[in-house]
Amino acid sequence: MAETGADEIRAKYGSPMFALLTSCWGEHLHMGVFESPGEALAPATERACAMMADDAGIGAGAVVCEVACGIGGSSRYLARRGARVEASNISPEQVATADALNRDAGLAEAIVTREADYHDLPYGDGWADACWNVEALLYTDDKKRVLEEGARVLKPGGRLIVSDLTMDEATPPAEREDLANRVGAHHYWSVARYDALVAELGYRVGKRAVLSEFVEPTFARVTASMLANRQAFSARVGAEPVEAACFRLEMQRRFGEMGWLGWYYTVLQPA
Ligand SMILES: C[S@@+](CC[C@H](N)C(=O)[O-])C[C@H]1O[C@@H](n2cnc3c(N)ncnc32)[C@H](O)[C@@H]1O
Repeated sequence: MAETGADEIRAKYGSPMFALLTSCWGEHLHMGVFESPGEALAPATERACAMMADDAGIGAGAVVCEVACGIGGSSRYLARRGARVEASNISPEQVATADALNRDAGLAEAIVTREADYHDLPYGDGWADACWNVEALLYTDDKKRVLEEGARVLKPGGRLIVSDLTMDEATPPAEREDLANRVGAHHYWSVARYDALVAELGYRVGKRAVLSEFVEPTFARVTASMLANRQAFSARVGAEPVEAACFRLEMQRRFGEMGWLGWYYTVLQPA
């Protein structure tokens, strides 16, 4: 199976095209939970954060280790709830953007952001109340290692929050491979495969929510925003990456509609 190397991930998330995509997606680069068919993406992605934080019991005074933090949307949300956040990401450009947004939001005191690979966190053991890992495991087949790294930094009784896009086992292999190549992510797992790993690790499941019905509306909104900006974006970075992004987003939307691409989160208590 193809792999996405660290340099490839850095190139993707640090690219001018990804900055434009981010302007369509918003500060939370993950799925949303929509309360009505016409609801915008921003309140829906924030609602997803709120659900996970509530289920993990993250409130004022909590110390959170966020891995693969994107541009820090979750960090800022959790800091506004009163948490202190140690955030990390493999992309230096996204770390710089997160830092700037944290400062603009007046949250620089509450959030420390650094460059790090989630397979090998630059922290000691046993200091966090929660480790937050949202929509980033699709890039690695060594999910066991990443979950164990997250568990390592937790205090006794701490919670691991894991959210990822999933791929139904019934997805036609050729379609699946095409999407993986276009996204540059080769390790979409099924929910069942995640459940088996959690059982193997012996973690207690506090909460587990399968929210796949929200994949289609999330990608529909990002696709619509990209299409509305198609000309302006092409003038900035060239037509080819913009057309590729529009095609890929529509494909992800269709995968959601077909029930192939799913989304789930779980709150775990490592032994
Ligand atoms: C879809 S984005 C999600 C970002 C963020 N968690 C959020 O919800 O807004 C995936 C993120 O995973 C990060 N990532 C991918 N592989 C990584 C690795 N090996 N170590 C750390 N971060 C990684 C990328 O840089 C990117 O920020």
